Amino acid sequence: MKDLDALYKKYLGRKGSLALALRTIGGLPKEERAKRARSLQDLKKELEGLIKDKSDELRRANEGRALKGEWIDTSAPGGKVRRGHLHPLSQIQQKVNEIFTSLGFEVAEGPEVESEWYNFDALNIPATHPARDMWDTFWLRQSQRGPALLMRTHTSPVQARYMEHHQPPFRIIAPGRVFRYEASDASHDIQFYQVEGLMVDKDISVASFKAVISEFLKGLFGEKVKTRLRPSFFPFVEPGFEVDMSCIVCQAGSKDKGVPRFRSGQVCSVCHGTTWVEIMGAGMAHPNVLKAAGYNPKGLQGFAFGIGIDRIAMMKYRVDDIRLFYGGDLRFLKQF
Ligand code: PHE
Repeated sequence: MKDLDALYKKYLGRKGSLALALRTIGGLPKEERAKRARSLQDLKKELEGLIKDKSDELRRANEGRALKGEWIDTSAPGGKVRRGHLHPLSQIQQKVNEIFTSLGFEVAEGPEVESEWYNFDALNIPATHPARDMWDTFWLRQSQRGPALLMRTHTSPVQARYMEHHQPPFRIIAPGRVFRYEASDASHDIQFYQVEGLMVDKDISVASFKAVISEFLKGLFGEKVKTRLRPSFFPFVEPGFEVDMSCIVCQAGSKDKGVPRFRSGQVCSVCHGTTWVEIMGAGMAHPNVLKAAGYNPKGLQGFAFGIGIDRIAMMKYRVDDIRLFYGGDLRFLKQF
């Protein structure tokens, strides 16, 4: 098409050969002028005709090609659109939120990069206390002047943050990701999820806690699941305990049957034959924590707990390696 335009310009344009030739007519003897003019006009018409024919032909060919390229087979079956879905940990998280909000808990949040104060000091863990060793910590490099920062090792700092701006009575949960500086294996990773819980009011007791937590586990695993508390230590609670649930993999919530062995003779890999699985740390809010929040702890009680979401998901979906949740392998994720 471009060549054709150039051709037109060369012969038929305002400064083309034909225009030049027409201009020379004036210099011819009178009797020849008319004849020459006519022959030049004829030539002009012929050239115009030829160029137009060629350009029409080219345009048609182009249109044909364009149409062929755009052709859509409306009778072909549609391509399948693959729908994604929530990650198994998010699904569990949503379910956990649902159960607790139905029990009157509100959802609170805190930052993943936390200050030393909220992660430790406000929780009754002073700088030199050996309890700091319970949490393998990722400290962040920073200037000398600011507060020491770290990746939070648990969701408990949200307790302190929330209490700063709220007065009891209240009940909250605080879900989120936490980080530990430790070697990963089938049941440990450098990151995992927790749901913190805190209820502060008058006349709150361990019995209130057990009632709430049993209700929660039944909502998640069914009516038959059993709960037990074992004494334990966390600096921000007193007394403190570890909460176990009956192993749903081998016990299926039924009565204790002693050490579970499957018909294959294999010992249950989830509870290692103990029939119980540890799923959270908990306890009654320590008066020092209430004081650090600016409360007068007299006549005030509370319970706190920290649930391992990954552990719960592993139980619920029978996943035997925590690292699968973070590997991003679609063959794994598509199963949920
Ligand atoms: N924050 C504790 C942990 O990560 C769990 C916990 C929460 C214990 C609340 C007691 C009360 O190990």
